[in-house]
Amino acid sequence: MSNIEKWIERAESIVGSGNVLTAFEDIEFFSHDEYAMEEFACMPAAAVRPGSEEETAAIVRLCAEMKIPLTARGGGTGLSAGCVPAARGVVLSLNRLNGVVDADPDNHTITVQAGMALHDLYQHVKEMNLFFPPHPGDEGAFIGGAVAANAGGARAVKYGTVKRYVIGLQVVLADGRIANLGGKFIKSSSGYNLLDLMIGSEGTLGIITGVTISLLPPPGVSKTLVVPFADVAEAISVVPKILKADIMPCAVEFLEHSVIRCAERLLDRSWPARDGAASLMLILDGRNEDEVLGQAEDLAAIVEAGGALDMLLAEDDSRQADILELRSMLYEALRPGTVELFDICVPRSEIAGHIGFIHELEVRYGISLPTYGHAADGNVHTHSLRCRLDDGIIGGDLPGWQEMHEQVRQDLFADAVARGGVISGEHGIGLAKRDYLKAMSPAANLDLMIAVKKALDPDNILNPGKVVLV
Ligand code: LAC
Ligand code: ZN
Repeated sequence: MSNIEKWIERAESIVGSGNVLTAFEDIEFFSHDEYAMEEFACMPAAAVRPGSEEETAAIVRLCAEMKIPLTARGGGTGLSAGCVPAARGVVLSLNRLNGVVDADPDNHTITVQAGMALHDLYQHVKEMNLFFPPHPGDEGAFIGGAVAANAGGARAVKYGTVKRYVIGLQVVLADGRIANLGGKFIKSSSGYNLLDLMIGSEGTLGIITGVTISLLPPPGVSKTLVVPFADVAEAISVVPKILKADIMPCAVEFLEHSVIRCAERLLDRSWPARDGAASLMLILDGRNEDEVLGQAEDLAAIVEAGGALDMLLAEDDSRQADILELRSMLYEALRPGTVELFDICVPRSEIAGHIGFIHELEVRYGISLPTYGHAADGNVHTHSLRCRLDDGIIGGDLPGWQEMHEQVRQDLFADAVARGGVISGEHGIGLAKRDYLKAMSPAANLDLMIAVKKALDPDNILNPGKVVLV
């Protein structure tokens, strides 16, 4: 009996034979995430679906004993090949751990199992008449994965990223012990901040099985606005003025009209602004209609002075939903031609310069680098394409696109770091950016990361090969 056959037999005795999957059609899904390039895909030897935290811990103990690499898997919506299994490794799917552990309206907290999908989490939180602000885009993502990647999304301008709301975690450690970090309290000066160490660790330091989230009261009203400008540089230059004026929008997104054409074609709907070459899309929220309309008035004065061609307020919920959908489907619309989607984050003041650099690269290499993103966060999404993009239509493959992609990636990351930014603002490092994290990190930072990984996972069984190579 091979090692993996022995592992399967023992895993079945922990979770039941129906929860250890080995057939190709059952495990193929686990071989990749949403990352477009196939070079990182890897079939797992098996996938296991524990039904409890204790079963999860028992599986980790089994893997530790038999030295089998184990990759935790949430919704599989990641964009950095972060949950792709290691060669001859197994996948631990958290999809059966999807319940509410504790809903506590008095403390404004909810504790859920890590395998809860975000759309279910939003529903539970809504029933408590509370609000979990981060919205990383794909609601099929699991909360455990969103914590493991410290996901961001459009609402980070006002509300921050996932980490701001995580106050407690249950984590299965590499030796199979269960650690409870943080709790329902808001303050803690009690020892090392292990909670933050786990957030964004991409399943390499422990397997998150439970999450306690601090919630906010919901905003009563929110409105979506679209503000067109002659070009993207002008649109971006207005963003610091908006923030300085103490208008704190929930979201400030930027996009070029040539890029939104792709989503218009996919959804057969149109972006509301026809004038100009770029738009800001803003979401304002507040306690009531008057407060939000007051913010909109202040905003109108600032954008007008900054060269806005118009300011369109989505009147009703369905128009608002249309606009948001066009924006959120940009990735999906460009996906067929995409080699890699970047999520560089630079200081806000550098965003205009970084986008100017991207336009320079387009000219230098004769390629399209469609770019949009979270303007007020300095978080820029550039698609490296294998083809040209003309009027929203994805063309045929360009000769030499692979070499061009490597060059573009190198140039973009170098520009981000030179501007004091990072190579990933919200999607994570995974396998896709690991070698670049190494190349771009100061030696002291990298040494610390490796030391932490070695201390917490000495046998390198938890999601090996991701984030840092040890
Ligand atoms: C977005 C995702 C791709 O902002 O992060 O659309
Ligand atoms: Zn994004």
